[in-house]
This record gives sequence, structure tokens and C-alpha cells, in this order.
Amino acid sequence: MGFNPAEKDGAWVSEFISSRRTTRDFLPTPVPPELIEQILQDSLTAPSWSNTRPFKVAVAIGEVRDRISTEFLSRWDVLSAGLRGGLWSKIKLFVKRYGLPTSNRIIVKPYVAELKPRAQRVGKELYGSLGVARGDRVGRDEQWGKNYEFFGAPVEIFVYIHKSLHIFAACDAGLMMENLMLSAHAHGLGTCAQGAVAFWDDVVRDEFEISKDYRLLCGIAIGYPSQAAVNSFQAHRIGLDELLVKTKKQKS
Ligand SMILES: Cc1cc2nc3c(=O)[nH]c(=O)nc-3n(C[C@H](O)[C@H](O)[C@H](O)COP(=O)(O)O)c2cc1C
Repeated sequence: MGFNPAEKDGAWVSEFISSRRTTRDFLPTPVPPELIEQILQDSLTAPSWSNTRPFKVAVAIGEVRDRISTEFLSRWDVLSAGLRGGLWSKIKLFVKRYGLPTSNRIIVKPYVAELKPRAQRVGKELYGSLGVARGDRVGRDEQWGKNYEFFGAPVEIFVYIHKSLHIFAACDAGLMMENLMLSAHAHGLGTCAQGAVAFWDDVVRDEFEISKDYRLLCGIAIGYPSQAAVNSFQAHRIGLDELLVKTKKQKS
């Protein structure tokens, strides 16, 4: 017999989904391989464009994870110091090129006016909750740099999407990721989706066999959440008023 939603009370689903929050500090406790396998299995039950599943996942653990993290941190040190410094350090950065993004440069582009306030709000509230002042570039770069230690998570997965399906591949990957993150949450694990790790695809490719037909979308840090205060941070969630577009009649 299959699962029959009509026999269940759906309210717990809303409660469960809304209780997922991004984890930004993990315990070093290893995640059992069978648990990683389970959440990956669950990720594959998401719907997909013509059932094509136009994505691949690289799971970095142990020495592979550590090597990638070390190289990311080294590049981030050079990039962040270069960007913080004066004209001369910027020139040096652009001449030497080490640290500059090798993929997804779009991430460093400023947000458009419509979306900027939301990104600014979460930045202000998150950094504020950590005691990092708005003008403290070093403090902000240090906090951002934790992305490259995967916030201490023992598992980092890198999500690749097939180039041929463009936005539809990203859509499918997003659905798959949400399934994965909710399954992880249900199993007591924390997750952090990480656009920050999409900069340096070449580092990941050095460790895994990844076809040129695929491009890096983002990463997800996975592990057991620590008790750190950052894990209690509650990002603002927009309401239906901001989600729904008006009918033309309502506009006037
Ligand atoms: C595709 C994607 C990329 C993200 N990249 C990062 C990141 O690089 N670093 C980070 O700390 N959080 C990252 N996040 C987490 C978001 O900041 C977070 O989901 C948002 O603020 C809402 O908070 P919540 O997940 O706790 O509901 C990312 C989320 C998504 C979906």
C-alpha cells in the first residue's frame, strides 16, 4: 500500500518545513555513510523536467573535503585581502589572477534594486547577531571565509547541472536540494546551501571526474549542528503580500 495523505494530518508538514533553518556552525562528528546515502536517495524523489534529472552531485568527505577547503581558504585569503586593499593590491590581484573566481562570476555582481533590500537585510541581521559591525570589512570577510571551511561540516556536496537545460536544470537541482535538506533536517542533520563555493569550480574538478557538460551550481554543507548562537539565527521570511502579483484590475 502506498502512502495515503488523506489519512494524515498535514499540519505537521507545514510546521516541519518551516522549522528548517540554515546551519552555520557544525560539530566535527562524522555523518554515517548510510545516512548520507539515505538523504541522497530522498533527494531523488523530487519532481524533474521530463524526468531528466539534469544534475550530478560530488560528495566531499575526509581528505578530499579537507584539500578542497584548504585551497578555497587560500584563494579566499588572497581575494578578500586584494579587494579590501588599495589600488595597488587590486592591480596585483588582477595581474597574478590567483584567487579570482574561475566560475560563476555573476555571484559578485551587485543585486538589482528590487532584491537588494532583502539581501541587505539578511546580511545586516546575520552579521549584527554575530557582533560584526557594518563597516568592519575584515570581520565580515572572516565570517564569509567560514564558508570555505564549510562552517566545520564534515560533508560538503557540490551540485552540478547539465548545461543544455539552462534555467530548468537549475530549477530541478533546487527541487532536489530542498528534498535533500528537508530529509537531512528530519534525520537530525543541519545544512547550509552555499553559493559561496561556486567560485572555484576548477578546485572541485581537480578531485572528481566531472563532465564538461555540467557546470557547478552551488554546494551544501551537511553535518550535525553545534549549539553556537549563529544556529539560532532566524532569517526574515517574506509574506504572501510580497509573493503574489496583483491582477490587472486590482492594480488600478
Ligand atoms: C542557492 C543558495 C545559496 C546560498 N548560499 C549561501 C552561502 O554561500 N553562505 C551562507 O551562509 N548562506 C547561503 N545560503 C543560505 C541563505 O542565506 C538562507 O537560506 C536564507 O538566508 C534564508 O534562511 P533560512 O535558510 O535559515 O531559512 C544560500 C541559500 C541558497 C538557497
